[in-house]
Amino acid sequence: MQKLIAANWKMNKTINEAVSFISEFKKLIKDIKNAEIVICPPFTSLQAVSKELKNSNIKLGAQNMHFENAGAFTGEISPLMLKEIGCEYVILGHSERREFFNETDDLINKKVAAALKNGLKPILCVGETAEQRQHGKTEDVIEDQIIKCLKGVDKIKDVAIAYEPVWAISRGNPNQKAATKADAEDAHLFIRKLLEGMYDENAAKNTRIIYGGSMKPENAKELLAMPDIDGGLVGNASLNAKSFAEIVKSAR
Ligand code: PGA
Repeated sequence: MQKLIAANWKMNKTINEAVSFISEFKKLIKDIKNAEIVICPPFTSLQAVSKELKNSNIKLGAQNMHFENAGAFTGEISPLMLKEIGCEYVILGHSERREFFNETDDLINKKVAAALKNGLKPILCVGETAEQRQHGKTEDVIEDQIIKCLKGVDKIKDVAIAYEPVWAISRGNPNQKAATKADAEDAHLFIRKLLEGMYDENAAKNTRIIYGGSMKPENAKELLAMPDIDGGLVGNASLNAKSFAEIVKSAR
């Protein structure tokens, strides 16, 4: 299975900055075939980035969306709009959306269903907080999130699950430590087994489970070499073209 390496730029980069990143990055990874590369810029840069990505081996994703196609939802963006602009992927249920914007599993479930219905591939984020891990609740939390967020979803192969332990997310701090490769692998294997029970062995094997939380050039290779880590969702280290290119090249 080809690894999926996605950049989550969060609320960073103006249109100009986004475009200059892409022109530098494209040159750095032009011969890469070992990974599927996705860039998820803020909404305001989607159009410009979409144009820059034409005829390249890089795909476009958004960081969030509403579950309705249109309507009176001030400030929201719909799946139709994302499709029209050229998005193939959409990040859903990121811990920052859960924590700062009160997104619930129930809401995220509606978004996952709407994305699939409109031909967008969700990157569904799950993961425990430091406190939940200290209390031995990691598996319970992940299981609960996955079951609720995937309720009624049968096209699981079009969904990528991003395991993002909240305590490992950099929040812009380049010195934040990632999960160890062993802890990450444990969680990924747990998710794989869970999917096997919810769907079947084949579906579980073919669903990408990617890791997010301070992935960077220094640790990408060892994380991506683990048997159940099928890619990465990269925040801080994806803001720099050279460092994101190095991460992409670590995927074998
Ligand atoms: P980080 O962010 O790589 O900066 O830790 C990952 C994410 O939150 O998706």
